[in-house]
Amino acid sequence: MSNEIYLTGITTTGTPHIGNYVGAIRPGIEASKDLTTKHFYFLADYHSLAKNEDPDKIVRSTLEIAAAWMALGLDTEHAYFYRQSDIPEILELTWILHGMTAKGLMNRAHSYKASVQANVESGNKDPDKGVMMALYSYPILMAADILMFKSTKVPVGQDQKQHVEMARDIAQRFNHHYGQTFVLPEPVIGENTAVLKGLDGRKMSKSYNNTIPLFAAEKPLRKLIMKIKTNSLEPGEPKNTGDSTIFDIYKAFATPEETAEVEKLYAEGIAWGQMKQKLFEYINDHMKPAREEYERLIADPAIVEAELLKGAERAREEAVPYLAKIRDAIGIRKLG
Ligand code: TRP
Repeated sequence: MSNEIYLTGITTTGTPHIGNYVGAIRPGIEASKDLTTKHFYFLADYHSLAKNEDPDKIVRSTLEIAAAWMALGLDTEHAYFYRQSDIPEILELTWILHGMTAKGLMNRAHSYKASVQANVESGNKDPDKGVMMALYSYPILMAADILMFKSTKVPVGQDQKQHVEMARDIAQRFNHHYGQTFVLPEPVIGENTAVLKGLDGRKMSKSYNNTIPLFAAEKPLRKLIMKIKTNSLEPGEPKNTGDSTIFDIYKAFATPEETAEVEKLYAEGIAWGQMKQKLFEYINDHMKPAREEYERLIADPAIVEAELLKGAERAREEAVPYLAKIRDAIGIRKLG
């Protein structure tokens, strides 16, 4: 058994889309097949409060994201798969870490700075206007997620790298002050995990509203794919694969041989309409079995709920005794 512990969280906002699939879900499930390492995957539902989501949307998103990982075959006997809010120790640790987190460190967080910048740019007198503490101390909750399970490797997108580095800083400061307690985590930025472009050619993201839901039913799936932006080259004119969203998406799903074939079709000038149809058929066939399982789970949320509770129980076997040690280290102890 190697000592590496992988952990990553997924904020419960929105419906899983094909960008999440190729960027996080697929590599996460693949990685968890390595039985010599431990894997923690969890739904970061308390993080979604920083975005002020509507309560019903949070529940729905939690169900959809959990069902997606399960339908795609995550081995929940090996991987720890749980919902953050089912582990009260994480919130307790969050407060403990507040005592070792410099306010100045939080001032430097990109997401907070972006909100301040937006206020300054729009001429607001108060640069903190509309900034909630859940946004401001978001990195501390994330540090608790990470440190609670002694994670060594944290696979994240580029935008979350700073948060993992902050978790490391907080852990270091704590260890320095109270003695060796936490394991220092490292961010892992996927090099060969594709960042997919969306319908409009910008990065596929729920905030741009340009996504293709991973389990879209056949008809809406086809409709969305037909909407993908292309250039105006005519059928018969050779096309460049280098700046084609359709090609990028195809490549993210297909084998290298199939991709090479499509490269040939581009050179021969395949019509955009035909290529979109081909992409639709490919994704549709590829996703069909998982989609059926996904739909079964969505229709029966009790199955998903039970799975998450089982995961939480396993995760708490690690968290409860560890938190007891941490509390002891900081002087929150029984008197006699
Ligand atoms: N903040 C991360 C995101 O928005 C999600 C997240 C929460 C996370 N806790 C985490 C990722 C811990 C890695 C480790 O993508």
